[in-house]
Amino acid sequence: MRNGRIGVFVVAVLAGAGGAFAHGGATGIVKERMDAMSEIGGKMKAVGRMLKGGSYDPGVAVEAGNVIAGHGGKALTDLFPEGSLQPQSEASPAIWSNWTTFRQYAGDLKSSALVLKTMAEQGADRQALAGAFGDLAGTCKACHQEFRVRK
Ligand code: HEC
Repeated sequence: MRNGRIGVFVVAVLAGAGGAFAHGGATGIVKERMDAMSEIGGKMKAVGRMLKGGSYDPGVAVEAGNVIAGHGGKALTDLFPEGSLQPQSEASPAIWSNWTTFRQYAGDLKSSALVLKTMAEQGADRQALAGAFGDLAGTCKACHQEFRVRK
């Protein structure tokens, strides 16, 4: 992939991962998970911008991988206690009828974020890092498709 191609790829990946929407009015744990998701989204954008052009700085991916991994796995599932829905929430009730799959996606988010971080630490080049970034974004997309209802 040449840099121009990586740019096209990154834009497509970010579109698939799902844009950032601030949801006013949510409270408590629902607000907490929206804030966590927004932070995750912001980190993905930062990596996307870095990969797309300008100077190649793997440190951006190390930092993002760290933060996103910290929001993955149990940290994420803990923000979804059974039935925690508010009008502003885009969480699908299917989360609680299909908890095993939801938990699996939360685990995938964490492990893919750690892969991105480790690769960046080990000096992966732009193209290799774009691949790991695409895999990570795939976990956002998979979970959103199944468990997020766009309002
Ligand atoms: C395990 C499932 C899961 C994974 C993985 C996941 N998300 Fe989400 N995401 C959700 C759910 C569910 C919501 C809706 C939460 C709500 O509104 O209560 C959401 C909401 C969001 C929002 C909107 C936040 C807001 O302010 O309402 C953004 C942005 C977002 N996710 C980005 C991402 C990105 C980027 C990734 C991947 C790096 C990701 N998510 C991975 C389940 C997931």
